[in-house]
Amino acid sequence: MSNNQIKSRIKQLRQLIREADHRYYLLSDPEISDKEYDQLLTELKNLEDQYPQLVTKNSPTQRVSSDLVENFPTVKHKVKMLSLDNTYSIEELKGWESKIKRILKREVDLGYLVEPKIDGVSCSLVYEKGVLVLGSTRGNGEMGEDVTANVRTIHSIPLTLRDGYPQSIEVRGEIYMEKTDFQKVNKERVAQNQALFANPRNATSGSLKLLDPAVVSRRKLKCLIHSFGWAKGVSFKTHQDFFDKVNQWGFPVDDRSVHCENLEKVIEYCLKQESERNSFPYEIDGMVIKVNSLNLQKELGVTLKSPRWAVAYKFPAHQVTTKIEGIEFGVGRTGTITPVAILEPVKCGGVVISRATLHNFDEIERLGVKNGDTVLLERAGEVIPKIIKVIISKRKGVERKINIPSRCPACKAKVAKEKESEVSWYCFNIDCPAQLKRSLRHFAHRGAMDIAGFGESLVNELVDRKVVKSIVDIYSLNREDLMKLPLFKEKKVTNIINAIALSKKQSFSRFLYGLGIRHVGEKAASLLAGQYRSIDQLAGIKKEDLEKIPEIGPVMASSIVEFFSASKTKKMLEAFNAAGLNLNQKLPIVKSSKIKAMTFVFTGELKSLSRNQAKELLETLGAKWSSSVSKGTDYLVAGRNPGSKYAKAKEMGVRIVSENDFLKLIGK
Ligand code: IVH
Repeated sequence: MSNNQIKSRIKQLRQLIREADHRYYLLSDPEISDKEYDQLLTELKNLEDQYPQLVTKNSPTQRVSSDLVENFPTVKHKVKMLSLDNTYSIEELKGWESKIKRILKREVDLGYLVEPKIDGVSCSLVYEKGVLVLGSTRGNGEMGEDVTANVRTIHSIPLTLRDGYPQSIEVRGEIYMEKTDFQKVNKERVAQNQALFANPRNATSGSLKLLDPAVVSRRKLKCLIHSFGWAKGVSFKTHQDFFDKVNQWGFPVDDRSVHCENLEKVIEYCLKQESERNSFPYEIDGMVIKVNSLNLQKELGVTLKSPRWAVAYKFPAHQVTTKIEGIEFGVGRTGTITPVAILEPVKCGGVVISRATLHNFDEIERLGVKNGDTVLLERAGEVIPKIIKVIISKRKGVERKINIPSRCPACKAKVAKEKESEVSWYCFNIDCPAQLKRSLRHFAHRGAMDIAGFGESLVNELVDRKVVKSIVDIYSLNREDLMKLPLFKEKKVTNIINAIALSKKQSFSRFLYGLGIRHVGEKAASLLAGQYRSIDQLAGIKKEDLEKIPEIGPVMASSIVEFFSASKTKKMLEAFNAAGLNLNQKLPIVKSSKIKAMTFVFTGELKSLSRNQAKELLETLGAKWSSSVSKGTDYLVAGRNPGSKYAKAKEMGVRIVSENDFLKLIGK
């Protein structure tokens, strides 16, 4: 092929791909198969690889940039991004119309555009000469964050506009994640032991703030345009006209947006959408009603926060009533007794719910709930359902008071409070099988000793068959013990035996954390390991000494002393020692360091060392780490795919450093 032929083939391929994207993402009416599409894209990629000088920024191959975003610069919106006033009932909606009619001071036919209010993240998109130049978040309405690199990965957002576009334009829309994609993301997070996103909105905003566009592109975000910012070279008569034009230029708009000639029709449509909301592919929390005529919009104007010409009609949270069929009591690792309501299964917000935690007995009292009660259940876009109240009128007189069990449901030991002022009740039996199961899972989990394969089903088998009676028994497990268990074959047994052996090398602070001392979390364990350096030192520790450490309060101090003075603990520690575990802090303490007493927080993945190694290094340098950003944070270390801590640190003015800067700081 001649140079000119190559250039024109590239141009043609780009055009074909853009057309295919448009038909797929906007019209949902593809004309070519996925295979044909992939062939076009591969041909284009190959040509661009051979002729890199012909690559353009807006070629369809360039949606995902390989560069990591350093941070998100702040951008000022040319026209403030407003919010919407909310109404919560048809009455309030009618009140809004009366108010605008009063302002207009004359009888006019008010036509409205009514659209779903998507529960996502607001964004602004600026196009110059038909090319996307800026994608930003709403921020505080005046200033947002430049997230262009991430926005470019969203296929429904055009990188270049179709013919007829104006000289420049800013449109605004909602970036969101479909419910099915949200579930997939959370499923992956469970597998990777990461915290779950509470709802699709959080998943969207978390994704948009990731520093690696390649990861954002895998999150399958989508966008629908809902409003106008500013434009040069075009004007619109109505909101409908705006939608029609932007749609022609290649922007996605919601085809559930309809024109209603009066409020009666608006209400009818809102109620219909409310009844169908569960079948929407995305979460909506209401409808948005906008005056259609832009002249009337101008006349009505805006207040400080929101336009007068638009309003949101918010749906009530997903609520259903169901019956409590029974109460179960869970036993936590440290013996906490948690009441759980077993419910007559009920669908709420598209999922079947059959259990809901009642948290503790104070909550039972606050709700006044009894076993057998009919209750109102709510899922406000959140994953965990909540019992809101008891429907007293449904009581038949047969409902039973929920009593604090006098004995532990698992081991029948007496249940008691640790202190009168505490809300929790505990089983204090350290041999309780339910607690042992939890303790074993805690000891073996990824953040502690990280014994691969030592999950719930293995733990249940080992405890129920009385093969394991204490966490230290993990280290006397042999092949024969494991081969006796159902579904355990040669290979699986070898893997577990190897994982157990490997865990003996885990650090002292992980071991301390794994012991599961009440009130001692990962951070406290790391502090203790840095300060006391061996089990022997900790075993003789006094409460007053512990309380000298600012992060350790009296409750934790008592719990630590109590743990180490128990004869059972002493025996267990001897057995751990005999098994060859790491009962000393191996890392030397560096006497003076420039980061002494400073507090670090980590977000995202580190490349050159694990988080635990980083934390241990900090301990040796006399520095501290914390899991959340606060005023006391000196540095936030941002690795790959940082999470919400990044935005928080930025907001609070905390210094943010890359992994490389961090390594320099600690002298590596
Ligand atoms: S119009 C001047 N239309 O709701 C107001 N907003 O609570 C411009 N939203 O920040 C917004 N769906 O992010 C509009 N169809 C829709 C919407 C919508 C969701 C969001 C938007 C806005 C927030 C206000």
